[in-house]
Amino acid sequence: MNKKFENFMGQKLAQLQDEGIYNKIKTLEGPQGAWVKINGEKMLNFCSNNYLGLANHPETVAAAKTGLDDYGIGPGAVRTIAGTMSLHTRLEKKLAEFKKVEAALTFQSGFVANLAVIPALVAKGDTILSDELNHASIIDGCRLTGASVTVFRHSDMGHLRELLESDLPGRKLIVTDGVFSMDGDVALLPEIVKLAEKYNALVMVDDAHGEGVLGSNGRGIVDHFDLHGRVDVEVGTFSKAIGTVGGCIAGSATLVKYLKQKARPFLFSSAVTPPDIAATIKSIEILSRDDKLVQKLWNNGDYFKKKMKDAGFDVGQSQTPITPVMIGDEKQASELSEKLLDKNIFAQSIGFPTVPKGTARIRVMISATHSKKDLDFAFEKFVEAGKELAII
Ligand SMILES: Cc1ncc(COP(=O)(O)O)c(C=O)c1O
Repeated sequence: MNKKFENFMGQKLAQLQDEGIYNKIKTLEGPQGAWVKINGEKMLNFCSNNYLGLANHPETVAAAKTGLDDYGIGPGAVRTIAGTMSLHTRLEKKLAEFKKVEAALTFQSGFVANLAVIPALVAKGDTILSDELNHASIIDGCRLTGASVTVFRHSDMGHLRELLESDLPGRKLIVTDGVFSMDGDVALLPEIVKLAEKYNALVMVDDAHGEGVLGSNGRGIVDHFDLHGRVDVEVGTFSKAIGTVGGCIAGSATLVKYLKQKARPFLFSSAVTPPDIAATIKSIEILSRDDKLVQKLWNNGDYFKKKMKDAGFDVGQSQTPITPVMIGDEKQASELSEKLLDKNIFAQSIGFPTVPKGTARIRVMISATHSKKDLDFAFEKFVEAGKELAII
């Protein structure tokens, strides 16, 4: 590679190390679960979005194997050219029923779903109103549109109203995360919907961290607030509570028809592989069956959060099982994460650019796979490490 560019990248990497925000990626020597193996050692896992344990559930694994046997490994090409496998359409029908919408469409990931749907809805001359803490994939999706993007202060409905009252050009799209993944707070969707109805704007919610977590049987934020039929676009991902990989959008039949003709990642990138789709179908069936896993997740979250708060940790304003342990300084958060790793807890620190500078944290991702014993063990180690670093 070009020497000048090698030097440029080397300098940037050194800068990230200096600032304590260089990502050190751990290698897992086995499947996702309550415990994972890192460097040959068992570590309690607080880093995955595998909220319900479906990433290595016997039924999803078995379904993936059947999917592989029945449909092979690859989709062949993009769906508009190679054809759509009946497996993908079966999942889309199931998703629509589960979400109580007319139709759904799958994409390669949640990130891609945002890149697909936002530019299909608005373009140059239109306006997007986007929450300041929206996920990177929403931000990138907005950038691809050419529309004017106005950021409203996080969950500040007064600010959103003020913006909607001003003279905004073209079609208006309000876009928000459902659950804000770094803090665990829930979007004020009923208020957003009311404002959208009053000011004639479209509403899109990215429910990546709400699916499998909020609403009846984990149907998500729209079900949680009983807003069926009043949210124009729901974006989802299979990479979190669903336990597999892929993304989707759910909404009206016309929206899905339109995206099949217009969404560039649908037209120019191949579909998710058959075993993933087969496992995703199984995950939706497991969720539809009963809410045992969802309940366990919430009980675990409430239990751990209370213990940490009582011990003097700042666990922020989370309204969901996501438990951010707020530290502030990037280097200290990274030190805490290292100390926890020495104590067999895998809890990654998260700093800039994922969260604003000076708000670094350890984001504890609670799962239904954790036992009370696991959570007590983790709590004890957090207290030890917190005292060693004078955090509590
Ligand atoms: C709100 C939100 N949208 C989209 C994504 C991306 O999902 P995926 O991993 O399926 O690309 C994430 C994942 O971090 C997310 O939190």
